[in-house]
Amino acid sequence: MSATTVLRREHAHILSMIACLRAACAEAGKAGRLDAETFRTGIDFIRGYADAWHHAKEEVHLFPALVAEGMSSESGPIAVMLHEHGTGRNYAKRIASQLDDAISGDDAALSAVIHNTLAYADLLTGHISKENGVLFNMADQILTPETQAALEREYEKAIPPGADANTGARYEEAVAALCRKWDIDPQAAAALGTSFTCG
Ligand SMILES: [Fe+2]
Ligand SMILES: [Fe+2]
Repeated sequence: MSATTVLRREHAHILSMIACLRAACAEAGKAGRLDAETFRTGIDFIRGYADAWHHAKEEVHLFPALVAEGMSSESGPIAVMLHEHGTGRNYAKRIASQLDDAISGDDAALSAVIHNTLAYADLLTGHISKENGVLFNMADQILTPETQAALEREYEKAIPPGADANTGARYEEAVAALCRKWDIDPQAAAALGTSFTCG
């Protein structure tokens, strides 16, 4: 499997979680209370899978490989992607800092969690569309099949402290369970990551 194929597959799982969180936000807005299980699983997934598991592969392996082939890390697509990873981390920090109060019934914290979750959802949906539709297509042209295969073998070195080779599968099972709970079709969710077009 190529390095970009691995990342595209992970995008599909991230988009499924985003669809679950959007559904949970809509219900929380109506009910005035959060579904604690969904949001606790969601923030753990955002940090442990979308960021520490997935973005780490891009930042530690794929992007440096593209820079080595002449792409800039200071401007253009890689710079934009890195900036958006940082923006996503800030949203995650805000969600995590307000989550306990929101679950306890604090209205201001509830509003903040919903606001930051939806902002994260919009950011990551656009981010993934740009990677799937632009940057990864460029990578597929720039990197040889041999480099892509070598990168994929390197991915395991990006596993964060406390995680192991099975961590990704455990997060993917968790998001599948939430999809069943919220009646989310994973394929329809993944299709939202293919809607970016240039011009
Ligand atoms: Fe990314
Ligand atoms: Fe990505």
